[in-house]
Amino acid sequence: MGQIDYLFIRLLEGCNAGCSMCGFARSSDKYRLSESDFQYVLKAAKNIGVNCIRFTGGEPLLHRSLLGFIESIREAGLKSSIITNGSLLSRNVGRLKVAGLDQVIVSIDASNAEIHDKLRNTPGLFRRAIEGLELAIGEGMMTRVNTVCGPGNFREMPLIQKLISDLGVHQWELSSLKLERPLDYSIEDQIDVEAVIDGVYVQGRKNNYIVPFGKIWCGNTKKEREEYFKTGVTPRPDGQCHIVDRVRYLDAKRGQLFACSLIPHRLEAQAWAASCEDFSKFDLDNESTRAQAEFFRSYGPLVCTGCSTTAAGASNEIGQYLPRDMGWWY
Ligand SMILES: C[S@@+](CC[C@H](N)C(=O)[O-])C[C@H]1O[C@@H](n2cnc3c(N)ncnc32)[C@H](O)[C@@H]1O
Repeated sequence: MGQIDYLFIRLLEGCNAGCSMCGFARSSDKYRLSESDFQYVLKAAKNIGVNCIRFTGGEPLLHRSLLGFIESIREAGLKSSIITNGSLLSRNVGRLKVAGLDQVIVSIDASNAEIHDKLRNTPGLFRRAIEGLELAIGEGMMTRVNTVCGPGNFREMPLIQKLISDLGVHQWELSSLKLERPLDYSIEDQIDVEAVIDGVYVQGRKNNYIVPFGKIWCGNTKKEREEYFKTGVTPRPDGQCHIVDRVRYLDAKRGQLFACSLIPHRLEAQAWAASCEDFSKFDLDNESTRAQAEFFRSYGPLVCTGCSTTAAGASNEIGQYLPRDMGWWY
């Protein structure tokens, strides 16, 4: 067992973007994690030694108490992070900085507005996301870009790499689109994928560009890539999954807790969810989440369809040298 470093919280489901691949696209869901429930969760996280709390959604910047939550996290001595589509970032960067936000993660799926705004069904989103990133970098915040890569945009990856390297972004997660079905890569695409991998992971490194975390989005080995193109299942950790001992994910609206940030998005998630309806009794390392961890630690690398390249890479590293503090690796 390891120290639980990260707590992800899905604060809300409401979202102002229309991303074609996402279950929360343009959701008008009204649920918001309340301030009092958040305080219980924060206290439990601090007690157990969590280092970082990362807010996701929906769109976290639509939550009116977000700044207050970030201030409370800073006062408790933990680090905070948000994953955002960037639409409301530039107008909030100053306030986020003052509140004590440590890391901002912006989702960027293309190197230009035409493709990004189309994939995310949101005119003007690319411009606003880049503007927000630039301001966050200017404020000295730790920045990261999350890119979802699939048949419709994989050729964009070297261009995104150059763009965000030139901007001075600090970290890049490049992970696969997940749709619970095979992805539509043609045979020609699969040939072009090799050139893109060379561009990003070989030439990009030579050019001192930012290189994505972890495994390659379609797999590091021939076997992983064959499975990925045939089934759409993304590369998983080698050996055991160590993420389940270091991460928890709270779906606040449903009061469900998961032993990894990626289990909740999968079809099998409900079968595993640990219920935590009463936040005053919130315990992020209870028997149910330990049972999840037990199962996915051994069998996740064989059966889990939700992994990300970052999770697979981080798990491998933890397996090799067991860092106590994962920092912003994950
Ligand atoms: C659900 S969003 C919530 C945060 C915020 N609204 C955003 O767009 O970044 C969190 C992350 O999940 C990614 N995502 C959404 N649907 C996905 C899918 N089908 N496969 C892989 N990643 C996905 C998004 O690109 C984003 O980086």
